[in-house]
Amino acid sequence: MATARPQDHVMLLRGEFDDLDDVMAVMDRAFDPHHGEAWSRSQCAGILPMSGVSLVLAKTGGRTLGFSLHRTISDEAELLLLAVDPEAQGKGVGKMLLDQFEDSSGEQGASRLHLEVRDGNRATAFYEAAGFKLAGRRRRYYRGNEGERIDALTYVKTI
Ligand SMILES: CC(C)(COP(=O)(O)OP(=O)(O)OC[C@H]1O[C@@H](n2cnc3c(N)ncnc32)[C@H](O)[C@@H]1OP(=O)(O)O)[C@@H](O)C(=O)NCCC(=O)NCCS
Repeated sequence: MATARPQDHVMLLRGEFDDLDDVMAVMDRAFDPHHGEAWSRSQCAGILPMSGVSLVLAKTGGRTLGFSLHRTISDEAELLLLAVDPEAQGKGVGKMLLDQFEDSSGEQGASRLHLEVRDGNRATAFYEAAGFKLAGRRRRYYRGNEGERIDALTYVKTI
């Protein structure tokens, strides 16, 4: 897979285990550790070999600007993680990755897309603008770095 947008030289490329250093660098910069949304390196490494899991990197030159991690099982797909380096946010990279999630999930047979996001994360507006509908709330799902519990909102999009 290599999706290019020549106007901004950002390419989407399939990621592998060897890309986890880049993934963790973006993860550390994009997620506020206060909220407990980021995954650890071992969580990422553990899920990568699983069936239906895809890691996608947004790159320009040799630099990784963002990534998505998603999984398709039968007709359901889940966006597990999406993050863009703060320096690269607001330039359409997140939307490129979200569109790739939707397109590749559809190609693999998914008809329903799922994601969850921390209640209070401004990314909810980003997902709603992309057609995701609020479907539920998981109470006390995230644990912040001071032990506080934060709800997750679940979103669904039918494609
Ligand atoms: C959410 C995130 C991935 C968006 O990536 P991005 O590259 O900044 O988004 P884009 O530039 O592609 O924005 C696409 C659209 O969403 C809007 N948007 C992006 N982030 C937004 C936000 N936080 N609040 C409101 N709208 C937002 C943009 O205005 C844009 O709309 P437009 O096309 O009408 O101008 C990025 O902000 C991020 O990494 N956040 C931290 C990690 C995180 O919380 N991830 C989500 C939970 S897994």
